[in-house]
Amino acid sequence: MDVYNQPIKTTMNVNELKQAFQEAYGKASTAVYFSPGRVNLIGEHTDYNGGHVFPCALSFGTYLLIAPNDQKVFRFKSLNQPAIESVALDKLTIPLGGNSWINYPLGCIAQYVKRGFKIEQGYDILIWGNVPNGAGLSSSAALEVVTAYMMNDQLRAGYDRTELAKIGQLSEHEFAGVNCGIMDQFASAQGKKDHAIYLDCDTLQFELVPVKLECVKVVIANTHSPHKLDSGAYNDRVAQCHKAVEQLNSVRPLKYLAELSEQEFEAIKSAITDPIALKRATHVVGEVQRTRDAVEALKKGDIATFGRLMCESHKSLRDYYEVTGEQLDAMAEEAWKIDGVIGSRMTGGGFGGCTVSLVHDEAIPRFIEQVGANYERRTGIKPEFYIAEIGDGARRVE
Ligand code: GLA
Repeated sequence: MDVYNQPIKTTMNVNELKQAFQEAYGKASTAVYFSPGRVNLIGEHTDYNGGHVFPCALSFGTYLLIAPNDQKVFRFKSLNQPAIESVALDKLTIPLGGNSWINYPLGCIAQYVKRGFKIEQGYDILIWGNVPNGAGLSSSAALEVVTAYMMNDQLRAGYDRTELAKIGQLSEHEFAGVNCGIMDQFASAQGKKDHAIYLDCDTLQFELVPVKLECVKVVIANTHSPHKLDSGAYNDRVAQCHKAVEQLNSVRPLKYLAELSEQEFEAIKSAITDPIALKRATHVVGEVQRTRDAVEALKKGDIATFGRLMCESHKSLRDYYEVTGEQLDAMAEEAWKIDGVIGSRMTGGGFGGCTVSLVHDEAIPRFIEQVGANYERRTGIKPEFYIAEIGDGARRVE
């Protein structure tokens, strides 16, 4: 989810951030951390269904600067918010009211307390992010993972990156009320430059697959129609999938929809009597297969098949999962018309946000111009385009 950071500037270097810390707290920071946003290439709404996903970390994300204090409080300041807020050390496991952005980092810190770490040291924290706000590119996962990473480092807790992703996910569940899967936090924690992560969300085994494509770029198109993951529609989808599993269990024991092949699903799907749950399950089972096929195609250099599967993924998210909506559909449809577009689909939770497209280099200017103009004509909204740079996962910068 993307809630907290409306960038005031899209670039700030580490020295400027340290300067901002000095101004906010009247002293120097002692460490700087970073964790990225992500874009998912294929495998949408499969993560909490035990399926595969194929995201990559982006070069933009969230910075976190800290210095210890002797006040027995955590103090939080975002460069995108006016106030500094304090949370006492004995209140670290209690979510703040009023949808505060601080719940994202606080929820991660709380996980350390719950795991038995004694936090006796207070910290001053400054946050700045350049993941576009409301774009479905996981600014909240970036904020969660950067906090989990910082705590791990400061407490010398020794957790690996997968555990840090789980801490971020728990924060989202417990402090933001979104029953998300693991994809966003995992991509932010485990990202690798020029690679996508082929992740089995059941076992958390993963493979890094190179996506440095010859004469082809990953282009992200922002519909500027903010996605509303917290609206409840996301949790509804999760519940509808659980319902499908529950009903299928009358004919076959099963934990996740992703355990079923398309043929197996065809044979038993009549056990799902709820028509909505049936639609959702149809998407998930198809998407699990598409994701497998797409990654296999990419490894063989068959990018045309990868692109075709991206388009099919969008249509399934539109027709069966019903998470696209007018703006995402307009953006994808306009992209499909352009010569040189290999594939295009919505990315992330849906209900607004971004599409992701694979576009031949020579077609990129045409893509941006024509898709931009046609999208604006159809929706009245000016879109924004980014050429994705696939970057590394969470790290200490200094
Ligand atoms: C959001 C969630 C992820 C995943 C995607 C849809 O980004 O945070 O866990 O479910 O939606 O694929």
